[in-house]
Parts: sequence; structure tokens; C-alpha cells
Amino acid sequence: MSGTGPVTSSGAQGPQSHGQSCLRISSLAETQRFGLWLGQVAAPGDVICLDGDLGAGKTTLTQAIAQGLAVPEECYVTSPTFSILHEYPGRIPLYHMDFYRLSDETEVLDLGFDEYFYGDGLCVIEWAERARDVVPFSRLHIQMTIDSPETRRYQLNFGVGPWAERLARYAA
Ligand SMILES: Nc1ncnc2c1ncn2[C@@H]1O[C@H](COP(=O)(O)OP(=O)(O)OP(=O)(O)O)[C@@H](O)[C@H]1O
Ligand SMILES: [Mg+2]
Repeated sequence: MSGTGPVTSSGAQGPQSHGQSCLRISSLAETQRFGLWLGQVAAPGDVICLDGDLGAGKTTLTQAIAQGLAVPEECYVTSPTFSILHEYPGRIPLYHMDFYRLSDETEVLDLGFDEYFYGDGLCVIEWAERARDVVPFSRLHIQMTIDSPETRRYQLNFGVGPWAERLARYAA
């Protein structure tokens, strides 16, 4: 995979420590390339949490992830702000959630979303911080910062699960 890979560190506190890395995104095309790759490597039960300012590119990244999952083009991925969850068919199902309007995180459990977290597809959650205590620990969390109209900084946080290994491959 071309492009500037993330700088990865795993911490030294043993198996419970978080891996972290920073990915600098220089263009919309690079966001799309990263999203495509995320969709290609995702496996059932994976959870990707997206946080950052309005317009940081959470939905844009999700659209690229959908492409990577081979979601049919006619299923145009839009932000599920009002319904909280959209489901799309792909190589594995994509469950796209947006917690922007969540009143509190127990709502996630009341709505039964935790079943999707441990289900047969990939969950991508915009504004995931609003339910940080109920999303699985083994998630990939991407904190997005807008550096300029075209450039973004992604702070990646991941546990000891598959993301550490996968992201190392993206960097290679
Ligand atoms: N490098 C980039 N990565 C992502 N989006 C970019 C980039 N450069 C420009 N953009 C533009 O920024 C906008 C991002 O909008 P998007 O709806 O994806 O943000 P969002 O984080 O989902 O916002 P919201 O918080 O409202 O849900 C799009 O218009 C996109 O074309
Ligand atoms: Mg959005």
C-alpha cells in the first residue's frame, strides 16, 4: 500500500495496553484510499469508531469503507443521523451508526445495538465518544482533526486485537 503509513507504538504496559499511531492525510483521495483498505481488511465483529469535528470526514471515510466492503454502488451511503443505524449488504454487512443525536449511552443498549457490535458484520460508528463505555474494547478508534480544508490528522487507537497487526501492514 502506498502513501505515508501510520507511526505505530504499542506501549509497554502488557497485554491490556493500547496501541496508538498517527496518520497524516494529505488529501480527500488519501482518505478514500485508507477507507477502501479498511473495508478490504475488515472482518465480522469488527468495530470502527469515528470522532472529530463536524465535516472532519467521518461519513466520507465510511463511504470509502463501504467501497472496500464491496457494498453495491446503488446503495449510496449517507449519514444515518435521524435513524441512528443504516445497514448495507457487502462482502460482510456494514452497520453504519451515528450517535450524534443519542440522548445517552444506555439508549444504545435499549435499541439492541450491542448485538451488532458482536455480530456478522463491520460496525462503523460516527460520534462514538457519545457511547464510549458501551462500545467494545477491541475497536479501532479514529479521532479526526481538520488541519486544513484538504488535510486531516487521524489519531488511531486500538487494543491488542487484530488492528495492531493490520495497521502495521498498512504502514509497510
Ligand atoms: N482529506 C479529506 N478527508 C475527508 N473529507 C475531506 C477531505 N478533504 C476535503 N474533505 C471534504 O470534507 C467534507 C467531509 O464531510 P463529512 O460529511 O464526511 O464529514 P463528517 O465528519 O461526517 O461530518 P458530520 O460530523 O456532520 O457527520 C466533505 O465535503 C469532503 O469532500
Ligand atoms: Mg457524518
